[in-house]
Amino acid sequence: MGLQHATVVDTHRLPWESGLDYLRTLAPAFRDNLGPADQVEANFAKYRQKNLYLDPNSTRRLDWVQLEPGYSDLTHCCHDSVEEGFLLGGEVALDGEAHLQAADYFWRPPGWIHHARTEQGVELLLGFEGKSNESGPVSRHVCEAQQAGRNHLISHTDESSLGTRGRLCKVSSSGLVWQPGHAYARSEGPLAGFDLPNLSVRPLSRNPHTGQQTVLLRLSPGYRQHSHGAHSVWWQMVVLSGSLEWGDEVMGPGVFVHRPAHTTEPPMASASGAVIYAKLDGWMDFVPQASPLT
Ligand SMILES: [Fe+2]
Repeated sequence: MGLQHATVVDTHRLPWESGLDYLRTLAPAFRDNLGPADQVEANFAKYRQKNLYLDPNSTRRLDWVQLEPGYSDLTHCCHDSVEEGFLLGGEVALDGEAHLQAADYFWRPPGWIHHARTEQGVELLLGFEGKSNESGPVSRHVCEAQQAGRNHLISHTDESSLGTRGRLCKVSSSGLVWQPGHAYARSEGPLAGFDLPNLSVRPLSRNPHTGQQTVLLRLSPGYRQHSHGAHSVWWQMVVLSGSLEWGDEVMGPGVFVHRPAHTTEPPMASASGAVIYAKLDGWMDFVPQASPLT
């Protein structure tokens, strides 16, 4: 039995969209503020992406992005939305923030002024929260270069400029300990049936009031949930390495899944182990459910 409610996208089967195609998917408030019009086209030829998720109502989106060597934003800018990224490879210099390499992560609350430039090229998962309790719509405001590292919307001395999860310019995930599943579960739950002994977690960012979070999940070889189950909140996940067996699907690196809240799916298993980049819209829980087939 396959997954009943979740949307599964194998990014390897998606064609790359050129940056010019991407421009057409952007909200006008973003598209029309990218910089000098005659340079936008040449620069966006170095930009390509695969869209994994786009909600037209909230403007929330998640894209798999490649920037060729030499790509540079045409202007400094900021957004009304949170912007979030996880580097899959390469490097990028974010002016006013940090220099990021593979496995580095950032969460930028609304308003912080930045500029991206890559010498070697970069590949990343790039997300915008859109209109949510985390942030405003996906927009783009052109800003002065000398304002890099300051906040355009809120005084940077005002604590609210840190947003819901803090201003995380660079989280080097490879330097974080893997939290054992049982220890991690003390702040979440209930997680009965989630195979906690074979789970470990690297939290990347979290809203401490709502539990909304972005994490790396490592499933040890032999991971197996005990039954069908559901989560109280929506999940988005991308397999980074290894593979999963889920329903009658085998999911390897590059597979994206969006699972709505309160939807029952078959147990997830991983015979060989896997690492997953996951976004959750609240505390992580798992409510076992009887199989629809029994
Ligand atoms: Fe940005």
